[in-house]
Amino acid sequence: MAYPLDELAPRFRDAITRAFGAEHRDTDPMLRPSRFADYQANGALGLAKTLHRPPREVAQALLGQLDPSGLVAKTEIAGPGFINVWLSPDYLASELATVAAGDLGLVRASAPDTVVIDYSSPNVAKEMHVGHLRSTIIGDALARVFEALGHRVVRQNHLGDWGTPFGMLIEHLLDLGVDSAEQSVSDLNAFYQAARGKFDHDEDFAERSRRRVVLLQGGDEETLALWKQLVAASQRYFASVYSLLGVTLQEADVAGESLYNPLLAETVRELERLGLGVESDGAICVFPPGFRGRDEQPVPLIVRKRDGGYGYATTDLAAIRYRVHTLGASRVIYVVGAAQAQHLAMVFESGRAAGWFGLEVRTEHVAFGAVLGADKKMYKTRAGASVRLVDLLEEAVARAHSIVREKNPALDAAEQHAIARAVGIGAVKYADLSSDRVKDYVFDYDRMLAFDGNTGPYLQYAHARIRSIFRKGEVEVPSPRAIPVHTEVEKALGLLLLAFPSVVSDVAESLCPHKLCGYLYELAASFSTFYENCPVLKAETAELRASRLALCDLAARVLARGLGLLGIEAPPRM
Ligand code: ARG
Repeated sequence: MAYPLDELAPRFRDAITRAFGAEHRDTDPMLRPSRFADYQANGALGLAKTLHRPPREVAQALLGQLDPSGLVAKTEIAGPGFINVWLSPDYLASELATVAAGDLGLVRASAPDTVVIDYSSPNVAKEMHVGHLRSTIIGDALARVFEALGHRVVRQNHLGDWGTPFGMLIEHLLDLGVDSAEQSVSDLNAFYQAARGKFDHDEDFAERSRRRVVLLQGGDEETLALWKQLVAASQRYFASVYSLLGVTLQEADVAGESLYNPLLAETVRELERLGLGVESDGAICVFPPGFRGRDEQPVPLIVRKRDGGYGYATTDLAAIRYRVHTLGASRVIYVVGAAQAQHLAMVFESGRAAGWFGLEVRTEHVAFGAVLGADKKMYKTRAGASVRLVDLLEEAVARAHSIVREKNPALDAAEQHAIARAVGIGAVKYADLSSDRVKDYVFDYDRMLAFDGNTGPYLQYAHARIRSIFRKGEVEVPSPRAIPVHTEVEKALGLLLLAFPSVVSDVAESLCPHKLCGYLYELAASFSTFYENCPVLKAETAELRASRLALCDLAARVLARGLGLLGIEAPPRM
């Protein structure tokens, strides 16, 4: 095991059992990293209440049964009954070396989950908006985290590729001339808005569009071919955004709404058969328990409209059933804006009520807030239009380019370019991932590209700086059998390095990537304190130099790996 707490906690549990009996085996010793010692355990306080005994006496009895061998160097009772714990230096030294020799302490799950992650999911023939950007960035980070922990990840890009708007979009395409599809779709906002404008103001066009929807739903070949053209052109555009962003989403991950068309009728029939789908006002609705509107009336999930058509909700019901039954999901994760919270909660509840899955399947909405401009309103261009994602990303890279050029004019053009890309894209991703995702955040190029503070460039730079120690010293990375830590600052860094795997597991559990960001930021700060206080290349002895170099290397690798899990590159020099 790699994280000291994973070894320390069982020792405490054993001590509790021995001192107070097996009925207290499940008492949480409440061990935490501490400012006053390596760790502090607060569990004796609660235990004292249950046992009606003075806390310090309980702490004393617990310590009397604690087996310190090979792990604990010293303990002490503090304050009302806290237990301070110091690890044995030999244990720390050998753990650090083990972690350095392996995969940084990351352990692959022995019983892997199948995690289906629905993310990105933009709409065909419509510009991706910043919300889709957030979904893409957060979803991709989570996918990487799950994979690093050995889980099977199935990415699902739930493309909005079906529905009534396609009638008007296809008619508009025909008006423009089919050959121009690629070109017209290259500006998706203009294309969509032109179609919408004609639909709203030109009755003849609107009528054609409605007929076109019927043809599309009826499977008319010519119509389907036109639809496919629109989908393909949009997908090429989305792929260009993904490639610029450097996300792992592939074309094979596309599972658009249209995929579920053949399953919709059957899904609704099943819901009806189960008595969950009931008629209401000519439509078929599911009323999952516990959802009430402002007027205290139950809120419906409309699964078949009055005109017999199916909608967004029906597709999501068919999709969740497919994800559990066909894809074998044990966790189904939706990275979707907070505005859809109620919709998704109703889909989850309906699926459970239908008996499609029980509590063994976790259904989770990874909700996120809005991206705001400096004016605290929805992020828009100066002209008030919604932002093209490619423009936004290219702007970030261009700004990073001028910073990199200024900071390191000696680098050749190609490397400058590669670094600018890593820094620009990394800055956008980190800004998104580092704040608590449920909150809104303000999009600010200057802040996200700053080389100080909790930013992507700061962490990338911290990493590159460590790498430069090895370049400048022309030293190889040592691989000692133990990495002893001598001073308090070295020890603080060592303990933090050992915490990496538990932070990654915590992200997989809580689905909150900002926890990893916070950890990496803390690690970079701890490294700088270490580097300011402890000479490395000029260390007093060869042994000390070797162990400090090994700490440097480990810190650089944890930073790079952590950034990698966030989907951010860590260039070796900047
Ligand atoms: N296309 C939708 C939108 O742009 C997001 C889809 C999210 N996924 C889902 N299964 N509903 O809002």
